[in-house]
Amino acid sequence: MKKPVDGFSRLSKEEKIEWLASHYFQDRKDAVSIIKQYWNTDAGLQKLHDEFIENTITNYYLPFGVAPNFSINGHLYSIPMCLEESSVVAAASKAAKYWLKRGGFKAEVLSTEKIGQVHFMYNGDKQKLIRFFNEIKPSLIATTDGITKNMRKRGGGILNIVLKDKTDKLSNYYQLHATFDTLDAMGANFINSCLEQFAKTFKEGAARNEDFTEEEKDIQIVMSILSNYVPNCLVRAEVSCNVEELNEDKNISPVDFAEKFVRAIDIAKAEPHRAVTHNKGVMNGIDAVVLATGNDFRAVEAGIHAYASKDGSYSSLTHATVENGIFKFWIEIPLALGTVGGLTSLHPLVKLALEMLSKPSARELMQIVAVAGLAQNFAAVRSLITTGIQKGHMKMHLMNILNQLGATENEKKQVADIFKDKTVTHSDVIKEFNNLRTKTL
Ligand code: MEV
Repeated sequence: MKKPVDGFSRLSKEEKIEWLASHYFQDRKDAVSIIKQYWNTDAGLQKLHDEFIENTITNYYLPFGVAPNFSINGHLYSIPMCLEESSVVAAASKAAKYWLKRGGFKAEVLSTEKIGQVHFMYNGDKQKLIRFFNEIKPSLIATTDGITKNMRKRGGGILNIVLKDKTDKLSNYYQLHATFDTLDAMGANFINSCLEQFAKTFKEGAARNEDFTEEEKDIQIVMSILSNYVPNCLVRAEVSCNVEELNEDKNISPVDFAEKFVRAIDIAKAEPHRAVTHNKGVMNGIDAVVLATGNDFRAVEAGIHAYASKDGSYSSLTHATVENGIFKFWIEIPLALGTVGGLTSLHPLVKLALEMLSKPSARELMQIVAVAGLAQNFAAVRSLITTGIQKGHMKMHLMNILNQLGATENEKKQVADIFKDKTVTHSDVIKEFNNLRTKTL
């Protein structure tokens, strides 16, 4: 029977590992050796990673890949991507090359407004609350002067604060709904600091407000927090070409391809089960770049999926049309990203990824990330409506299977040759691998 541990965070790294090894692993030595195998030999670099989170015992690697040949608004990018799923980077690269020959990707930022809210309970006369809010609003902004000074100098800051009556959803529930421009910062700390100050000023002001009864003075602040739903921080990316240019695949005519493609998108618009998988493909591209550039992929995921439901039913993030002989395919998504602050100046690989992208502003990164999502979706839908995805997937997965089998480089090459023109299945790979081993015995 395992017992809870007290003071785990105060143990040294070695002690934590020792405790874990002795409590959770049959082969303690093996567990410790795996954990330590991933330590960086550069003590300074290891310390940097240790301190990103609490209770770090080791590092968890993800491959850092690159998808080259992305033409975005006329600039050529090699896009860094971090993820574990085989075939995603290959698919992105393929889509990049495909559209390179057809005018490239066009992207534009539609808006950059971030949101934060102070959620509070007020039991009293609504008109008095409105009067009080209008009186105190200048102080809400003034008392954050110290926090917003630098951001204001650079042209950002608080855009507005409005009082929202949410009592139709929950009795006595109101919000201070604030909007911000955080420029190149994702802005979570900035927004949350402003909100906590708003809450303090608001509560203290209410307690002094002579217009309020004693009960009305007692405003209950429940929480102050940014919203990861940013429907006014939007980016759009697009590709288009004449339908006749969609002529890569010999087995399907350009017109049929275009029509089938639009139909596939329409299905994802109409049907939530398909929409979720369709958007998962979009997120393959988005998350990988968000992660490589040190941004918060959970925030991005939450916000984008909420946006996919904005019309009342979960739907496709991408859209496609064929009109007057022109095929058009586009994405519109909310993205709150940063290229300064957070991990961007701390993690050496994040710095490298941003330099690879020519040190983009947050607006440029929004465009690059949206393009990665669109490209990934194009590649997935293109495969799905033509060859099916398993052909490409299993080709990439072949190496994973061979690695699991402990194949040598030479064996990998030989088995890959066998499957060059053959469908890859797990059992066939094992069979061919075993044949090869028996032959060489
Ligand atoms: C797999 O990671 C993603 C796809 O399922 C996306 C899709 O179905 O559109 C291929």
